Amino acid sequence: AKNVGILAMEIYFPPTCVQQEALEAHDGASKGKYTIGLGQDCMAFCTEVEDVISMSLTAVTSLLENYKIDPKQIGRLEVGSETVIDKSKSIKTFLMQIFEKCGNTDIEGVDSTNACYGGTAALFNCVNWVESSSWDGRYGLVVCTDSAVYAEGPARPTGGAAAIAMLIGPDAPIAFESKLRGSHMSHAYDFYKPNLASEYPVVDGKLSQTCYLMALDTCYKYFCHKYEKLEGKQFSISDADYFVFHSPYNKLVQKSFARLLFDDFVRNASSIDDAAKEKFAPFSTLTGDESYQSRDLEKVSQQVSKPLYDAKVQPTTLIPKQVGNMYTASLYAAFASLIHNKNSELAGKRVILFSYGSGLTATMFSLRLQEGQHPFSLSNIASVMNVGGKLKSRHEFAPEKFVETMKLMEHRYGAKDFVTSKDCSLLSPGTYYLTEVDSMYRRFYAKK
Ligand code: ACO
Repeated sequence: AKNVGILAMEIYFPPTCVQQEALEAHDGASKGKYTIGLGQDCMAFCTEVEDVISMSLTAVTSLLENYKIDPKQIGRLEVGSETVIDKSKSIKTFLMQIFEKCGNTDIEGVDSTNACYGGTAALFNCVNWVESSSWDGRYGLVVCTDSAVYAEGPARPTGGAAAIAMLIGPDAPIAFESKLRGSHMSHAYDFYKPNLASEYPVVDGKLSQTCYLMALDTCYKYFCHKYEKLEGKQFSISDADYFVFHSPYNKLVQKSFARLLFDDFVRNASSIDDAAKEKFAPFSTLTGDESYQSRDLEKVSQQVSKPLYDAKVQPTTLIPKQVGNMYTASLYAAFASLIHNKNSELAGKRVILFSYGSGLTATMFSLRLQEGQHPFSLSNIASVMNVGGKLKSRHEFAPEKFVETMKLMEHRYGAKDFVTSKDCSLLSPGTYYLTEVDSMYRRFYAKK
């Protein structure tokens, strides 16, 4: 199989959201801390009728319907998620309801979990399968689904929720440059979920930022090595048209792209002109560790990278800024933003993606885009996803209502024997929602 990659995409995020500006005021944070400091506009969250299973049921059903894919044509289904509802039963098995109905139970794959990286692991599994000798000619399907919620405190505004479904096969408009991959995996306690009775993570915020940037540097280093071996010339930022980052909050994305430019300076790469060289020069003697701590370097890099950021990164930031951190779906929601914003200009472009999951696992990889043929074309993907329409039809909750919802969800986490309000008035037609968890913890869903 040639040009294996993403043929089709669908995104779902809850219609319920809270404005960061309002949350900031409610939390007593200084004005601008969430909107400018973190760079976030709005945050989506699940109410008691939605969860990672309902969101993924919605995304998968909608993808199959909108691209007219017969469920029998799916041969592999992989889910990436870090939202644990059951320690044994995979989310994938819940999604099998859709396929069983059509008589298809011959579908490989289960769930992958490591913080925000599980979706990338799932995606690689599907792409590798289509490229392998065990491929049976059918499509792969990848689902990234998460509800990111934090305890009250500084991390709470970096929540979010979404599910993304991606159809995988050959001759894709979004094709993998499979040889171009750099990974970095190591042991860290930056963000983890050791308390199985709580949905909230334990987070060392500052450490998680440094781990993220160190992983970025290392992945970029390996990525560049591989490119140089393959192409016989140096790689620099100018060799890619867009950069897409895992997006816990937008400020980290700004810092990450700035960091790549500094990496190019250190490597003496062609993307750095004389003016940039002069600005970076005072920092050329910093050790690696010092460079992560230097506020001056951070400021200068962001300033130097601003025009390139506007061209190569800004078009990828819409959904993460509007919906928040979607954990496994976050990187792919950023990529979906690019398709939404630029679909008619993307043919022939190279896009570099950086996936990061705390704990930690990270990979930088490359995609090559072409327009493709209906229904698997970039323009059709943009129109099916209807990002603008979905963002517009949301319902803003007051911060008090958001906090109240979080309290109810804490209570419901791991609970049994309850029925939900079944209030689906805010959901659009076709959306799945949770109706009941019975005395055996079995979960029941309905479709609006
Ligand atoms: N106006 C403008 N900017 C402001 C204001 C203001 N009034 N107040 C603060 N800021 C800026 C700060 O200067 C800082 O920016 P900087 O980093 O450029 O200096 C930014 O806002 C955040 O302020 P901090 O005081 O650093 O924020 P705090 O420590 O309270 O929390 C954090 C931020 C650590 C990101 C927290 O939200 C968190 O722990 N989030 C979850 C962890 C996370 O997402 N990590 C990322 C990788 S791991 C993952 O994906 C889960």
